[in-house]
Amino acid sequence: MINALKRLLKGGLNQPLQFLRRHKVRNALAQLASHQHPQLKAVGIALQESLSGELSAQERKVISLIENRRSFLLGSDKVIPVVDYGAGSPSSSRTREEMEKGVRSTAKVAKITRASKSQFWATVLFKIIRNLEPQSCIELGSCVGISASYQASALNINGKGAVVTLEGSPEIANIAKETFVNLGIKNASVVTGPFHETLTNVFEISKPIDFFFNDGHHDHDAVIRYFNQAMPYLSETAVIVFDDISWSPGMRKAWAEIKADERVSASIDLRKIGIAFVTKSLSTKERLVIPL
Ligand SMILES: C[S@@+](CC[C@H](N)C(=O)[O-])C[C@H]1O[C@@H](n2cnc3c(N)ncnc32)[C@H](O)[C@@H]1O
Repeated sequence: MINALKRLLKGGLNQPLQFLRRHKVRNALAQLASHQHPQLKAVGIALQESLSGELSAQERKVISLIENRRSFLLGSDKVIPVVDYGAGSPSSSRTREEMEKGVRSTAKVAKITRASKSQFWATVLFKIIRNLEPQSCIELGSCVGISASYQASALNINGKGAVVTLEGSPEIANIAKETFVNLGIKNASVVTGPFHETLTNVFEISKPIDFFFNDGHHDHDAVIRYFNQAMPYLSETAVIVFDDISWSPGMRKAWAEIKADERVSASIDLRKIGIAFVTKSLSTKERLVIPL
Protein backbone atom coordinates (compact mmCIF):
# COMPACT_ATOMS: atom_id res chain seq x y z
CA MET A 1 0.00 0.00 0.00
CA ILE A 2 2.76 2.43 1.03
CA ASN A 3 4.84 1.38 -1.95
CA ALA A 4 1.88 1.90 -4.29
CA LEU A 5 1.38 5.38 -2.84
CA LYS A 6 5.07 6.14 -3.28
CA ARG A 7 4.92 4.96 -6.91
CA LEU A 8 1.85 7.10 -7.55
CA LEU A 9 3.48 10.18 -6.02
CA LYS A 10 6.67 9.56 -7.95
CA GLY A 11 4.84 8.96 -11.22
CA GLY A 12 2.63 11.96 -10.65
CA LEU A 13 5.54 14.23 -9.85
CA ASN A 14 7.72 13.00 -12.64
CA GLN A 15 6.12 15.02 -15.43
CA PRO A 16 6.07 18.42 -13.68
CA LEU A 17 9.63 17.83 -12.45
CA GLN A 18 10.80 17.04 -15.97
CA PHE A 19 8.99 20.11 -17.28
CA LEU A 20 10.73 22.27 -14.64
CA ARG A 21 14.12 20.76 -15.44
CA ARG A 22 13.69 21.37 -19.18
CA HIS A 23 12.55 24.92 -18.48
CA LYS A 24 15.66 25.56 -16.35
CA VAL A 25 17.93 24.10 -19.05
CA ARG A 26 16.29 26.23 -21.75
CA ASN A 27 16.73 29.38 -19.64
CA ALA A 28 20.36 28.58 -18.86
CA LEU A 29 21.07 27.97 -22.55
CA ALA A 30 19.31 31.18 -23.58
CA GLN A 31 21.59 33.10 -21.18
CA LEU A 32 24.66 31.32 -22.48
CA ALA A 33 23.64 31.99 -26.09
CA SER A 34 23.63 35.73 -25.38
CA HIS A 35 26.89 35.70 -23.41
CA GLN A 36 29.19 38.61 -24.15
CA HIS A 37 32.20 36.35 -24.67
CA PRO A 38 32.13 35.06 -28.28
CA GLN A 39 33.24 31.51 -27.42
CA LEU A 40 30.72 30.94 -24.63
CA LYS A 41 28.06 32.45 -26.84
CA ALA A 42 29.04 30.13 -29.73
CA VAL A 43 28.81 27.07 -27.49
CA GLY A 44 25.47 28.26 -26.07
CA ILE A 45 24.03 28.56 -29.58
CA ALA A 46 25.50 25.16 -30.49
CA LEU A 47 23.76 23.54 -27.52
CA GLN A 48 20.46 25.24 -28.29
CA GLU A 49 20.65 24.07 -31.92
CA SER A 50 21.53 20.52 -30.85
CA LEU A 51 18.58 20.35 -28.46
CA SER A 52 16.11 21.70 -30.98
CA GLY A 53 17.53 19.54 -33.80
CA GLU A 54 18.18 22.60 -35.94
CA LEU A 55 20.14 21.39 -38.99
CA SER A 56 20.68 22.82 -42.47
CA ALA A 57 20.10 20.52 -45.46
CA GLN A 58 23.87 20.11 -45.86
CA GLU A 59 24.33 19.25 -42.17
CA ARG A 60 21.45 16.79 -42.26
CA LYS A 61 22.95 15.06 -45.30
CA VAL A 62 26.41 14.47 -43.78
CA ILE A 63 24.94 13.32 -40.48
CA SER A 64 22.70 10.85 -42.26
CA LEU A 65 25.72 9.41 -44.15
CA ILE A 66 27.68 8.99 -40.91
CA GLU A 67 24.67 7.37 -39.24
CA ASN A 68 24.39 4.94 -42.18
CA ARG A 69 28.02 3.96 -41.60
CA ARG A 70 27.30 3.52 -37.87
CA SER A 71 24.31 1.26 -38.67
CA PHE A 72 26.45 -0.83 -41.01
CA LEU A 73 29.12 -1.33 -38.31
CA LEU A 74 26.48 -2.07 -35.67
CA GLY A 75 25.26 -4.88 -37.92
CA SER A 76 28.71 -6.45 -38.31
CA ASP A 77 29.32 -9.84 -36.69
CA LYS A 78 33.02 -9.76 -37.62
CA VAL A 79 35.34 -10.52 -34.70
CA ILE A 80 38.67 -8.66 -34.53
CA PRO A 81 41.64 -8.65 -32.13
CA VAL A 82 41.70 -5.64 -29.79
CA VAL A 83 44.25 -4.13 -27.42
CA ASP A 84 42.69 -2.01 -24.69
CA TYR A 85 45.01 0.62 -23.23
CA GLY A 86 42.10 2.21 -21.35
CA ALA A 87 40.57 1.94 -17.91
CA GLY A 88 38.22 -0.99 -18.70
CA SER A 89 34.89 -0.55 -16.91
CA PRO A 90 33.97 2.02 -14.20
CA SER A 91 34.62 -0.67 -11.56
CA SER A 92 37.96 -1.91 -12.98
CA SER A 93 41.07 -1.06 -11.01
CA ARG A 94 43.82 -1.51 -13.62
CA THR A 95 47.28 -0.29 -12.64
CA ARG A 96 49.12 2.25 -14.80
CA GLU A 97 51.52 -0.53 -15.84
CA GLU A 98 48.62 -2.80 -16.97
CA MET A 99 47.06 0.04 -18.95
CA GLU A 100 50.35 0.99 -20.62
CA LYS A 101 50.94 -2.64 -21.60
CA GLY A 102 47.37 -3.01 -22.89
CA VAL A 103 44.85 -5.80 -22.34
CA ARG A 104 44.50 -8.10 -25.36
CA SER A 105 41.24 -9.81 -26.36
CA THR A 106 38.86 -10.15 -29.30
CA ALA A 107 35.53 -8.44 -29.84
CA LYS A 108 32.72 -8.12 -32.36
CA VAL A 109 32.80 -4.94 -34.48
CA ALA A 110 29.17 -4.33 -33.45
CA LYS A 111 30.11 -4.32 -29.77
CA ILE A 112 33.12 -2.01 -30.34
CA THR A 113 30.92 0.40 -32.31
CA ARG A 114 28.55 0.70 -29.35
CA ALA A 115 31.27 2.69 -27.51
CA SER A 116 30.82 5.54 -30.04
CA LYS A 117 29.06 8.74 -29.05
CA SER A 118 25.31 8.65 -29.56
CA GLN A 119 23.86 10.66 -32.43
CA PHE A 120 22.77 13.38 -29.99
CA TRP A 121 26.18 13.84 -28.33
CA ALA A 122 28.04 13.56 -31.63
CA THR A 123 25.74 16.29 -32.97
CA VAL A 124 26.60 18.44 -29.94
CA LEU A 125 30.30 18.10 -30.89
CA PHE A 126 29.45 18.82 -34.52
CA LYS A 127 27.53 21.98 -33.63
CA ILE A 128 30.22 23.21 -31.23
CA ILE A 129 32.77 22.87 -34.03
CA ARG A 130 30.45 24.52 -36.56
CA ASN A 131 30.09 27.52 -34.25
CA LEU A 132 33.63 27.80 -32.81
CA GLU A 133 35.31 27.25 -36.19
CA PRO A 134 38.55 25.76 -34.85
CA GLN A 135 41.44 25.00 -37.16
CA SER A 136 43.53 22.32 -35.46
CA CYS A 137 41.57 19.59 -33.62
CA ILE A 138 42.77 16.54 -31.71
CA GLU A 139 40.67 13.61 -30.54
CA LEU A 140 41.82 10.98 -28.03
CA GLY A 141 39.94 7.75 -28.78
CA SER A 142 38.93 7.20 -32.43
CA CYS A 143 37.15 3.89 -31.94
CA VAL A 144 35.58 3.19 -35.37
CA GLY A 145 35.68 6.86 -36.39
CA ILE A 146 32.13 8.02 -35.67
CA SER A 147 32.78 11.11 -33.52
CA ALA A 148 35.84 12.01 -35.63
CA SER A 149 33.65 11.89 -38.75
CA TYR A 150 31.19 14.29 -37.12
CA GLN A 151 34.03 16.67 -36.23
CA ALA A 152 35.74 16.42 -39.64
CA SER A 153 32.42 16.98 -41.45
CA ALA A 154 31.70 20.07 -39.37
CA LEU A 155 35.17 21.44 -40.22
CA ASN A 156 34.58 20.57 -43.85
CA ILE A 157 31.35 22.58 -43.95
CA ASN A 158 33.18 25.43 -42.16
CA GLY A 159 35.66 25.36 -45.04
CA LYS A 160 38.74 25.01 -42.83
CA GLY A 161 40.41 22.79 -40.26
CA ALA A 162 41.44 19.18 -39.75
CA VAL A 163 41.19 16.58 -37.01
CA VAL A 164 43.86 14.14 -35.90
CA THR A 165 42.39 11.24 -33.95
CA LEU A 166 44.38 8.76 -31.84
CA GLU A 167 43.58 5.08 -31.35
CA GLY A 168 45.57 2.42 -29.52
CA SER A 169 44.06 -0.72 -31.01
CA PRO A 170 45.43 -1.27 -34.57
CA GLU A 171 42.44 -3.21 -35.95
CA ILE A 172 40.00 -0.64 -34.56
CA ALA A 173 42.14 2.16 -36.03
CA ASN A 174 41.90 0.43 -39.43
CA ILE A 175 38.09 0.50 -39.22
CA ALA A 176 38.23 4.25 -38.42
CA LYS A 177 40.41 4.77 -41.51
CA GLU A 178 37.88 2.78 -43.60
CA THR A 179 35.11 4.96 -42.16
CA PHE A 180 36.85 8.10 -43.47
CA VAL A 181 37.39 6.53 -46.90
CA ASN A 182 33.79 5.31 -46.99
CA LEU A 183 32.49 8.79 -46.16
CA GLY A 184 34.94 10.62 -48.44
CA ILE A 185 36.43 12.44 -45.44
CA LYS A 186 39.84 13.88 -46.29
CA ASN A 187 40.49 16.20 -43.34
CA ALA A 188 40.78 13.49 -40.67
CA SER A 189 43.72 11.21 -39.97
CA VAL A 190 44.23 8.38 -37.50
CA VAL A 191 47.41 7.94 -35.48
CA THR A 192 47.72 4.37 -34.19
CA GLY A 193 49.33 3.50 -30.87
CA PRO A 194 48.88 4.01 -27.13
CA PHE A 195 48.50 7.68 -26.20
CA HIS A 196 51.55 7.66 -23.96
CA GLU A 197 53.64 6.84 -27.06
CA THR A 198 51.91 8.96 -29.72
CA LEU A 199 50.52 12.05 -28.01
CA THR A 200 53.62 14.27 -27.67
CA ASN A 201 54.45 13.96 -31.35
CA VAL A 202 50.84 14.65 -32.37
CA PHE A 203 50.80 17.76 -30.15
CA GLU A 204 54.07 18.94 -31.70
CA ILE A 205 52.87 18.65 -35.29
CA SER A 206 49.37 20.00 -34.58
CA LYS A 207 50.15 23.06 -32.43
CA PRO A 208 48.57 25.48 -31.81
CA ILE A 209 45.59 23.27 -30.94
CA ASP A 210 42.19 24.96 -30.93
CA PHE A 211 39.95 22.03 -30.01
CA PHE A 212 40.85 18.96 -27.97
CA PHE A 213 38.29 16.18 -27.49
CA ASN A 214 39.27 13.78 -24.72
CA ASP A 215 37.30 10.55 -25.19
CA GLY A 216 39.83 7.77 -24.79
CA HIS A 217 41.34 6.86 -21.52
CA HIS A 218 38.71 7.15 -18.75
CA ASP A 219 41.11 7.14 -15.83
CA HIS A 220 41.67 9.99 -13.36
CA ASP A 221 45.46 10.11 -13.58
CA ALA A 222 45.51 9.68 -17.36
CA VAL A 223 42.95 12.48 -17.93
CA ILE A 224 44.92 14.87 -15.69
CA ARG A 225 48.22 13.85 -17.31
CA TYR A 226 46.93 14.49 -20.88
CA PHE A 227 45.32 17.77 -19.77
CA ASN A 228 48.64 19.03 -18.34
CA GLN A 229 50.56 17.68 -21.31
CA ALA A 230 48.25 19.55 -23.74
CA MET A 231 48.62 22.95 -22.05
CA PRO A 232 51.80 24.21 -23.77
CA TYR A 233 50.40 23.25 -27.19
CA LEU A 234 47.00 24.94 -26.90
CA SER A 235 46.08 28.08 -28.83
CA GLU A 236 45.07 31.28 -27.02
CA THR A 237 41.40 30.42 -27.50
CA ALA A 238 41.45 26.65 -27.04
CA VAL A 239 38.46 24.63 -25.89
CA ILE A 240 38.75 21.15 -24.38
CA VAL A 241 35.81 18.76 -24.25
CA PHE A 242 35.98 15.90 -21.76
CA ASP A 243 33.64 13.02 -22.38
CA ASP A 244 32.10 10.78 -19.71
CA ILE A 245 32.87 13.08 -16.79
CA SER A 246 30.33 11.16 -14.65
CA TRP A 247 31.49 7.70 -15.79
CA SER A 248 33.34 6.74 -12.56
CA PRO A 249 34.43 8.34 -9.27
CA GLY A 250 37.88 8.85 -10.85
CA MET A 251 36.41 10.70 -13.84
CA ARG A 252 34.26 12.88 -11.55
CA LYS A 253 37.37 13.73 -9.50
CA ALA A 254 39.37 14.55 -12.64
CA TRP A 255 36.62 16.89 -13.88
CA ALA A 256 36.37 18.59 -10.45
CA GLU A 257 40.13 19.25 -10.53
CA ILE A 258 40.02 20.53 -14.12
CA LYS A 259 37.13 22.90 -13.29
CA ALA A 260 39.10 24.24 -10.32
CA ASP A 261 42.32 24.65 -12.31
CA GLU A 262 43.25 28.31 -12.61
CA ARG A 263 44.24 27.87 -16.27
CA VAL A 264 40.57 27.08 -17.03
CA SER A 265 38.81 30.42 -17.40
CA ALA A 266 35.28 29.04 -17.76
CA SER A 267 33.64 25.64 -17.75
CA ILE A 268 30.29 24.11 -18.64
CA ASP A 269 29.24 20.88 -16.98
CA LEU A 270 26.60 19.08 -19.06
CA ARG A 271 26.76 16.03 -16.72
CA LYS A 272 27.74 13.71 -19.59
CA ILE A 273 30.45 15.96 -21.01
CA GLY A 274 32.45 18.83 -19.59
CA ILE A 275 33.66 21.80 -21.62
CA ALA A 276 36.72 23.74 -20.45
CA PHE A 277 37.68 27.11 -21.93
CA VAL A 278 41.34 27.96 -21.53
CA THR A 279 41.04 31.30 -23.32
CA LYS A 280 42.92 34.10 -21.57
CA SER A 281 40.45 36.77 -22.72
CA LEU A 282 37.91 35.77 -20.02
CA SER A 283 38.35 37.45 -16.67
CA THR A 284 35.37 35.91 -14.88
CA LYS A 285 35.84 32.33 -13.73
CA GLU A 286 32.38 31.09 -14.69
CA ARG A 287 31.52 27.55 -13.68
CA LEU A 288 28.19 26.61 -15.26
CA VAL A 289 26.21 23.43 -14.68
CA ILE A 290 23.56 22.69 -17.31
CA PRO A 291 22.37 19.07 -17.02
CA LEU A 292 21.18 18.44 -20.61
C1 LIG B 1 34.92 5.57 -25.99
S1 LIG B 1 35.89 5.01 -27.30
C2 LIG B 1 35.95 6.40 -28.36
C3 LIG B 1 34.64 6.65 -29.05
C4 LIG B 1 34.76 7.65 -30.20
N1 LIG B 1 35.32 8.91 -29.77
C5 LIG B 1 33.41 7.92 -30.81
O1 LIG B 1 32.55 8.48 -30.11
O2 LIG B 1 33.20 7.56 -31.97
C6 LIG B 1 37.52 5.05 -26.61
C7 LIG B 1 38.62 4.52 -27.54
O3 LIG B 1 39.87 4.93 -26.99
C8 LIG B 1 40.83 3.92 -27.12
N2 LIG B 1 41.77 4.08 -25.99
C9 LIG B 1 41.47 4.11 -24.66
N3 LIG B 1 42.59 4.33 -23.94
C10 LIG B 1 43.61 4.44 -24.81
C11 LIG B 1 45.01 4.70 -24.67
N4 LIG B 1 45.56 4.89 -23.48
N5 LIG B 1 45.76 4.75 -25.78
C12 LIG B 1 45.20 4.58 -27.02
N6 LIG B 1 43.88 4.34 -27.22
C13 LIG B 1 43.10 4.28 -26.13
C14 LIG B 1 40.04 2.62 -27.05
O4 LIG B 1 40.71 1.59 -27.75
C15 LIG B 1 38.69 3.02 -27.66
O5 LIG B 1 38.62 2.64 -29.03
